[in-house]
Amino acid sequence: MLLVANWKAYVEDIKRAKELFSLGKRLVRGQRTTTVVLAPPSVLLGALALGNSSPILFAAQDISATTGGAQTGEVTAQVYAAAGAVYAIIGHSERRAAGDSNAVIAEKLAHALAHGLVPILCIGEKERDTEGRYLSFLREELTLAIKSLSPKERRKVIVAYEPEWAIEKTAALAIHADDLCEIVLYIRKVLAEFLPGKSSAHTLVLYGGSVEPANIRDLAASSGVDGFLIGHASIDPKTFSQLIKEIS
Ligand code: PGA
Repeated sequence: MLLVANWKAYVEDIKRAKELFSLGKRLVRGQRTTTVVLAPPSVLLGALALGNSSPILFAAQDISATTGGAQTGEVTAQVYAAAGAVYAIIGHSERRAAGDSNAVIAEKLAHALAHGLVPILCIGEKERDTEGRYLSFLREELTLAIKSLSPKERRKVIVAYEPEWAIEKTAALAIHADDLCEIVLYIRKVLAEFLPGKSSAHTLVLYGGSVEPANIRDLAASSGVDGFLIGHASIDPKTFSQLIKEIS
């Protein structure tokens, strides 16, 4: 299982960041079933990830759509890779709300891959309807993000299904395992149109949206997901420990 802790802008000081990192290292010691990835704000990522030799890995929360040069304030894929990031979250709904279009997201995927970062592409509908329009919406987000990549690049992309209606709520309002199971199958079906042979079966599909200690085990056991993207529950030491214990 891949467990990605998306710290968003919740963790703002180095002391707290280091405490969570140390806790993560203690929790994964001696177990091989869960890979823990931390996604701190960029400056804190640099402070924690540079020279990191622990089993904990790091993800950028986003990368620049630019490739360097005269771009004040931008943090490029190359900089994240040099700072020790292994993954890059791309297309999170909070970045889409801040203006990232599907075209920008496709560009960011290409930049991440060009610099050796594994992209975690977020897709997710704003709301559910009874006619299944949310499925076409997911298809469109996924298709527009990956269609211009080569088959080799497409194989490297991790897909995170993050329905906006479930983000920043509570476990009781998150998706149910059987509904998630349907979505995971649907995402693999769409991916199969873009990936040769059976390789879509190997794409990692994650879920994010109010994953908490109360629902992680059920979602992990019966939905077919390969891991989780976790926001608010990953920044509290107690719930972070419970999450890792529940799925390890
Ligand atoms: P949440 O956030 O776990 O707080 O719902 C998930 C995310 O936005 O990635």
